[in-house]
Amino acid sequence: MIVREMEPGDLEQVMRIEETLFSVPWTREGFLTYLLKPEAAFLVVEEKGSILGYCGVITVLDEGDITNVAVRPDRQREGIGNFLIASLIRLMDAIGVTTLHLEVRRSNASAIRLYQRQGFKEDGLRKHYYTDPDEDALLMSRIPGKC
Ligand SMILES: CC(C)(COP(=O)(O)OP(=O)(O)OC[C@H]1O[C@@H](n2cnc3c(N)ncnc32)[C@H](O)[C@@H]1OP(=O)(O)O)[C@@H](O)C(=O)NCCC(=O)NCCS
Repeated sequence: MIVREMEPGDLEQVMRIEETLFSVPWTREGFLTYLLKPEAAFLVVEEKGSILGYCGVITVLDEGDITNVAVRPDRQREGIGNFLIASLIRLMDAIGVTTLHLEVRRSNASAIRLYQRQGFKEDGLRKHYYTDPDEDALLMSRIPGKC
């Protein structure tokens, strides 16, 4: 199992996972647009040519917003999510992006636990942020010196 940067050729597999997991999935064009942005970084975890999970971040100066985190349903609860976020944090640290932010559905207990284990703390709530179904977003940040 390796972690590497996402490439346009990964998008067929990424889209299959994205459309399975999310009620409002990103489009292929959305991923492609972000992949081409110099201030974005997307990682995949791959095993023998199969994409098992991916995550993405968009950066501004020393801060980053995590835009995507997903693990293929049949490979969840094996530590892949943890591996992805730890790899993303390491990569961001190496380029001086030290503060990371994200939003997560309030009911998404396993994602919230994963982020807490990686040093993220709750720091706000965005009412009715998500649709289909309507739900509040919990805002979480990982701030140096506060982990
Ligand atoms: C949230 C998500 C990314 C987590 O990915 P994951 O690979 O399952 O995460 P991990 O395996 O690292 O950790 C998840 C759980 O598995 C457990 N786990 C890890 N390795 C394990 C193992 N070998 N055996 C049993 N359980 C294990 C962890 O303890 C953790 O348990 P907990 O949630 O009860 O605390 C994944 O569930 C997912 O893709 N969900 C749908 C999309 C989503 O919600 N994305 C986040 C949007 S903000």
